[in-house]
Order: sequence, then structure tokens, then C-alpha cells
Amino acid sequence: MISRRSFIQAGLVLAALPKQIVWASGKVFRNTFRTPKLELGRRVGKDVYFDLSIQSGRSAIFPNKATPTLGINQDFLGVTLRANKGDRVHISVKNTIDKTTTLHWHGMKLPAKADGGPHQPIAPNQIWQTQFDIIQDAATLWYHSHQLHKTAEQVYQGLAGLFIIGDDASKKLNLPSEYGVDDLPVIIQDKDFNRNGSFSYLGSMMDSMRGMKGNTVLVNGVVSPVLKAKKSLLRLRLLNGSNARTYHLSFNDNRVFTIIGSDGGLLEHSIKANTLRLAPAERVEILVDVSDGGRPILQHAAAQESSSMGGMGMMGGMMNNERQDMDIFQIDASDTLKSTSSIPKNLVKHNNPQQSAVSKQRRLVLQMQMGPRMMLGGNAFSINGKTMDVNRIDEVVKAGSTEIWHLENTSMMPHPLHIHNVQFKVIARRGGVKGHELGFKDVVLVHPRERVSVIMKFPEFRDAKIPYMYHCHILEHEDRGMMGQFVVV
Ligand code: C2O
Ligand code: CU
Ligand code: CU
Repeated sequence: MISRRSFIQAGLVLAALPKQIVWASGKVFRNTFRTPKLELGRRVGKDVYFDLSIQSGRSAIFPNKATPTLGINQDFLGVTLRANKGDRVHISVKNTIDKTTTLHWHGMKLPAKADGGPHQPIAPNQIWQTQFDIIQDAATLWYHSHQLHKTAEQVYQGLAGLFIIGDDASKKLNLPSEYGVDDLPVIIQDKDFNRNGSFSYLGSMMDSMRGMKGNTVLVNGVVSPVLKAKKSLLRLRLLNGSNARTYHLSFNDNRVFTIIGSDGGLLEHSIKANTLRLAPAERVEILVDVSDGGRPILQHAAAQESSSMGGMGMMGGMMNNERQDMDIFQIDASDTLKSTSSIPKNLVKHNNPQQSAVSKQRRLVLQMQMGPRMMLGGNAFSINGKTMDVNRIDEVVKAGSTEIWHLENTSMMPHPLHIHNVQFKVIARRGGVKGHELGFKDVVLVHPRERVSVIMKFPEFRDAKIPYMYHCHILEHEDRGMMGQFVVV
């Protein structure tokens, strides 16, 4: 029982502390850190067979409440798929929900017909069979719904999971690699909830314009989890699986961690850092040393996000949910066991796209249109003045060619631009290229009035009819027109 005195004391503490600490004090890390089930498929030599089922379920996110959720082979979010470079994966996806959906393999180099984008819809009760060879290096990729105009809502409800690729080069590095023990998926998503525990989606016009940002942050579908870990080196595979929020991550004790990977896989050299920006759809792999037995909390600091929202001031400034700092999860390494690993300085060698091989440069201008279209919920976002049209091919690319794309943002919001079927290198951006952006990327944040240039070599897959997508990965922007289509011939 809580005595009246301690109750009053708690109240005083809440009143006296600044906002960030009030938030932290309201947060008790008592939920168990959960990792999605690891699915290795059925292996016959280099052929790996995955049986996936898109399903609806109910999840106990809050005590005594059942949240209706979507998942893949589980009630909420997808199981983690893992296969190796050189494998041929065969995936059967059964849609058991009552809406048409898709599964897109984000970051994967693969034939257009296997991409799982808007051109491969799976109707209710249908099965989509696909296969492709894994031709790229070890990486943390992910997969998610890509249903035209419905991606945001379906991902929000849970249609997203990790797809981990392994290879020999990464195995030799002796990185932490025991899934769920010292090699940990960390899928970060923010949501809003109704009183009965159900998700609340798009409560306001602002949500649909800026993209949905929720007040509650979840890790692998769990609110405020604590990860019990050995005193050891941990490898965190961070995925920003949120619809719209960009996170500015650091540990509450400001500890230094090591960045080892980006969207497309391991970096060439590890990088020490104590903060990290993670835009929607980005992945970063970090090593965190908790051999000191500490209990660090991974946090998001909103203040930094505000600076990138500059032009939004005229529309009433930041929403409350953008001003909010968030505690994401805690690591508790007070366990006695000790393990010893070391942090490699050099990781893998990159086969970089060559400037001398560039045969074409393109410009993508990211725009938003204010006025009635924005207010009434229509296609207010565009690329090169055009909103997404499934019947229009916007760009034609030569297979095997190297190109530079200049991504120019003339709108007043940042847009994380994603390109299917490639891993690119960022070659120019305001302030220079740093941190995990030195690695291979498939999505890159473009700030207002910024121009970011990327270079990439397109794989040798050809299909004159079926296009790949490029789009903003703020999913509400994607659904509202900020997407284009390219074929590779
Ligand atoms: Cu992560 Cu076109 O998607
Ligand atoms: Cu993608
Ligand atoms: Cu956008």
C-alpha cells in the first residue's frame, strides 16, 4: 500500500522536475524486452523456403487490454527472417486478413516481380509465391506492407519485420551474433492508443500532413522494455520502423557506442559516437559495451528534431508530440556473467560505385502543395511535380549502369527518400557525409532546401514492364503521392 506521505512526496517530485525528467520518472522499465521469433526457413542446400502468413491478432501491449494488431506468423509485427548471401529464398505469403496487402523486401536487390511493392498485391485469402537469389552482403534489411495508399496504416498496425542477411565476411569479424542474446533486433515505433487499448491512427489533419507521430514508443512491440543482458558487448540492430518520426538517439549516461553498420550492411571502419540520427526506414547497427554492468537507457531527444522543422513554424510550430523527449528502452547488465569480445576497427571492404562510370544523372524534386489539397487529404505530395500514378513510368534505367541522383527538397519538411533495388552511397550533402551515412544506404533524409546527391550501380535485373518505386518513407507522404516508378531495362 502506498502511504499518504510517499504519495505526496512523489507528487512534489513530479511538480519540481523539468519535463524530460517527469517523463522519465513516469516510465518504469518493467516489461521484458522481447525479440521477434527468428525464422530460418526450411533449408535444402542453398534453397531456403519460408512460409509466411499475414494475420490479425490481439496483443497485450497494456495490462488488461487487448490491442487489435497485425503481424506475420505472429500476432504483432513480423518474425525475423534470416538467410545468407548466395542462398535462393522461396517465400510463400498467405494473406489471411480481410484487406489486400503486399510484402516488400526493403533494401533487397532483386527482380522487380519479386519486390513486393504496389504491383504485387495479395488479395484476401490469396497466396503470393516468390523467389529470389540473395546477391548482397550481410545486412539488416526489413520487410513491410507496400499496399498502394494503405502502406502507412498497415505498417502502423504491425505489418513489418526484419530480414537479416548473413555472409562469410561478417562471420569472420567475430561480432556478437547470438540472436536474442547479444545480437538484438531493436524495432523502434511510436504509436497512439485509445482508452480501450486499440491503436489510434491519424487523429488530425496535422498527423496526415507531417506523418503520424505517436506519444508512446515501442521496441519490438513492447512499451518500456528492459533488456537483461550479460556484462558484455551487445550488437543492436536498430530499425526505425515508425511512420514519420526521426529519432535522435543517445544513452542517458552519454556512453560512447560503436557504429558498425548502415542500411546496406557493415561499414568499412567502425565509428565511435554518442548520438545517432535515425530517420524512418533507416537501420543502423551499433555495438554497446555494457561490461561495466551499467543500466543505460536509450533515449530520443526531441530538441534536435525541432531544428530540422524550421519552416513549419508558420503552421503553429511543433505539435506537442514533436516536442516530447522519449525513453526508448533500458539495458540492465547487472547480471554476473561476463563475456569478452572486442570491437573491430576495420570491418569489410566496399565495392563502391565509381564516379568515372556514371552514365546518367537525374534530379528528383520533393515538393508539397499547401492549400485545399493538403487540407482535404488528397495527393498533396509530389516528386518532380507529379503525384504517384501506378500507370505511369517516371524513369527508365539501364541495368548494370551507374547513376547519380540529386534529391532536392523544396518543401518545408524533411523527407527520407528511399530507392528500391539498390544500395547507394551519399556523395554530397549539406555539412558533409558523416557517421552511418558513410555506409551503403537505401534511404536518406533530405532536409528542407537541401540537395543530397547519391551514387549507385543498378543490379543486372531487367523488366521493361514491372517498375520499382522510389518514395518518401514518411508513410503518409508516400500514400499521398510522394512516390515515383522506375523500370530497369
Ligand atoms: Cu520500405 Cu518502398 O519501402
Ligand atoms: Cu523498399
Ligand atoms: Cu516526406
